[in-house]
Formats: sequence, C-alpha cells, structure tokens
Amino acid sequence: MTLLLLAGTAEAKRIARDLAAQGRPAVASLAGATRAPHPTGLPTRTGGFGGEAGFRRYVHEAGISAVLDATHPFAQRISCRTARICKELGLPYLQVLRSAWTPESGDDWVMLDHEEDAAGHIPQGATVFLATGRQTLPRFANLSRGRRLICRQIDPPDTPFPFSEGDFLIGRPPFSVEDEIETFTRHQVDWLIVKNAGGETPRSKLIAARRLGIRVVMLNRPPQPDALRVETVEQALDWVEAL
Ligand SMILES: NC(=O)c1ccc[n+]([C@@H]2O[C@H](COP(=O)([O-])OP(=O)(O)OC[C@H]3O[C@@H](n4cnc5c(N)ncnc54)[C@H](OP(=O)(O)O)[C@@H]3O)[C@@H](O)[C@H]2O)c1
Repeated sequence: MTLLLLAGTAEAKRIARDLAAQGRPAVASLAGATRAPHPTGLPTRTGGFGGEAGFRRYVHEAGISAVLDATHPFAQRISCRTARICKELGLPYLQVLRSAWTPESGDDWVMLDHEEDAAGHIPQGATVFLATGRQTLPRFANLSRGRRLICRQIDPPDTPFPFSEGDFLIGRPPFSVEDEIETFTRHQVDWLIVKNAGGETPRSKLIAARRLGIRVVMLNRPPQPDALRVETVEQALDWVEAL
C-alpha cells in the first residue's frame, strides 16, 4: 500500500511526521507554492501533477492505493478533483478539514463569499491588511482604489505590488497574538481580510484584531468535495491505520 498525502497545511506536516515515524509507505505532495518549504520527513514530490490526466498517470505509475487530502480549506480545485477521481478509481480518499472559525464575543466580522465584495464594506482611506495570500491579490483590484492594501506573503515578491497604494509584507507563520498586535499597530491597520481557514495557531490574527478593535472581513469557505471527511489529525491517522 502506498498512501499519497496531499500536503500544504500544518495538519499535513503533523501527519507526515507521524507516518514517517511509523515507517508507513507514503509519499507527500506539495504544490510548490512556497519556495523553501520545511522537509516533510516523507519522500516528497513537488509541483502540480499536470492537471487531471497527469494526476491519473501519477497515481498509476507510483502505485498509489489511497489518498489522504490534507490541503487547505480554500484549495478547492485539488480537493474536488482528487475526491472525484478516487471515487471513480475505487481508491480510498479522506479529506482532513479543520472546523471553520465562528465569531466570539467582541468580534466584529462581515462574512462574505467573494473578495470583490469587500469594497462595498470598507471605507475609502482605510488601511487594509490582507492575510489572504498573493494568489488572490488581483481580486482586490476594486478595493485598492482609495485604500492602502498590505498583503502578507511567505516569500519575497518577484513582481512589484500590483496597486498604486500598498505593499507586500514578508512573514512566515506562525505568528503569535503579540506579533500580530505589533504588526497591525505598526501599519495602522483599520481592517483585516481573512479566509476562514480555521485552526488554533492562525487564529492569533483574529484575537489581535478583537483586542485592537479592528474590523474583519471573513471570507467564507468554498464548497467542499462530497467525500469522507474528518476534522483532526488523530482521526486521519486512525483512518490510515484502518486501511
Ligand atoms: N488556497 C489557500 O489559501 C492556501 C493556503 C495555504 C496553503 N495552501 C496550499 O497550497 C497549495 C495550493 O493551493 P491552491 O489554492 O493553489 O490549490 P488549488 O487551487 O486547489 O489547486 C491548484 C493546482 O495546484 C496543484 N496542487 C494543489 N495542491 C497540490 C498538492 N498538494 N500537490 C500537488 N499539486 C497540488 C494542482 O495542479 P495540477 O492540476 O497541475 O495537478 C491543482 O490543480 C495546496 O496544497 C494548499 O494546501 C493553499
């Protein structure tokens, strides 16, 4: 049995470490979005599979017999495609999806489905911190008019900031609540835009926003695959054990 672990999250890192420690035959797969990712501890392949046909070829050639999908809740394309192909091929597939965040007392959130709608809620002149990554930055083009955008990303940018006002900010998570308070204060942030990724560690930015009275646009998750799903690393490891 060779398990394919679709990685790219903190959960995937923990699962990879455990599978490696148990000596399970498994391969981790990273999209290649981060230039210098931490080693997974498992044999690791990097980069897209080359679309659906490439994925099918890879599964066949590498003798993959099950897929554990621990990609990000917003990595919708890879999750939906993989779940569908596994169903078709009769391969066991499990998605690990941490629970979404819900507002707590003192939080001031606007929940939206689309980045483009943020401009309807955030006033002109505001400084907006985008904790949404560089991939979706173009979707904030309308928001950039009359507002300063700060987009945090892990790697130094290889292209200039696409809007007239604002900049990239380089930083590799995790960030503590104190780190986030310092960052938001230093940049005089008025609004924070976040994807509803869920998880304890990345929650620090929401706690910092609450303490500083910063308003939050919370982007709702895209639809998830119609497939077997668990919320925790422990449940995922139990599933592997039972295969
Ligand atoms: N979206 C986010 O906000 C976010 C945040 C943190 C981390 N990540 C991680 O970054 C990766 C890319 O995210 P995304 O939103 O671009 O995904 P996506 O839109 O669902 O996938 C786009 C393409 O990236 C490739 N891909 C994605 N995950 C892969 C993996 N684990 N191994 C090999 N190829 C992969 C596939 O290319 P081919 O079609 O060529 O196979 C896929 O079609 C994911 O692994 C995800 O866990 C995403």
